[in-house]
Amino acid sequence: MRVRKDLNWSDVTPRCDWMNRRQLIAGAAALAAAPAAAGIEAAKSPFSTTEEPNTFKQITTYNNFYEFGLDKGDPARNARLLTTDPWSIVIDGLVEKPGTYDLSDVMAGAPLEERIYRFRCVEAWSMVIPWIGFELSHLLNKVGVQPGARYVAFETLVRPDEMPGQKSAILDWPYREGLRLDEAMHPLTILATGLYGEPMPKQNGAPIRLVVPWKYGFKSIKSVVRISLTAEQPQTTWNMENPREYGFYSNVNPQVDHPRWSQASERRVGAGIFAGRVDTQMFNGYGDQVASLYSGQDLSKDF
Ligand code: MTE
Repeated sequence: MRVRKDLNWSDVTPRCDWMNRRQLIAGAAALAAAPAAAGIEAAKSPFSTTEEPNTFKQITTYNNFYEFGLDKGDPARNARLLTTDPWSIVIDGLVEKPGTYDLSDVMAGAPLEERIYRFRCVEAWSMVIPWIGFELSHLLNKVGVQPGARYVAFETLVRPDEMPGQKSAILDWPYREGLRLDEAMHPLTILATGLYGEPMPKQNGAPIRLVVPWKYGFKSIKSVVRISLTAEQPQTTWNMENPREYGFYSNVNPQVDHPRWSQASERRVGAGIFAGRVDTQMFNGYGDQVASLYSGQDLSKDF
């Protein structure tokens, strides 16, 4: 299942890896002044946290991407096998303009922003990640959502030749995720195409992945090739695997423990060995923006 190559990601790592945050900010300012330079230009967003982001190295070497293996380091070792250009996304189901869209069509006119979000994995670790992306609602409005649509389903590509983890039935491929339409249309929900001002690293879900910051990380599906608007709640990978442990909603909730561990606190990846665990926040700290989506729902049942 695992493919090891002589070269490590760290050997071919982009400059972000060795630049510190101050240099990065200076670099971003320089990029803004010189649009021809490499790197993605994106507006700042009021939705960003002011917490210090994790380093590029932490974000790109501690990953979950089972298509490339089960260990946290496997995606960084194996994901370079993935061909991300050309890339297209099938958009189908209850939409006005279904079709197979080239990534450039998906990106056309998309208002890119930097969104520095807290990211909380169901395994009780967390990071702060400076994504580059645009609101999913922008794309859904472009293709036109039909009135009967209530959910959005997403799929990752299946390509066992390039994704060694898919040679084993560790999950029922393709990786699938889903959102309720109001969650999908929420301004915090983005399709991310980069981080730290650079195109999305393959191990983080190149060339385009979902990011839903108030939900456990497994909802943020990587390397998306299909988006379907549906009337019924779609099947989702971890819920199919173990419905008792992984609900459809999977909102970050310190009061609803995972059957095998507490969700009351979390470990911030990269915090020193003397740093304690921090309290997990309801909706990962995004409650002011998203709690109203769930008014009237019992979140211990709809977990
Ligand atoms: N998407 C796909 N296709 N396959 C995966 O295994 N893992 C999920 C999510 N998206 C996963 C995926 C999980 S469990 C987490 S925590 C996040 O990706 C990790 O994102 P990161 O590696 O960019 O931090």
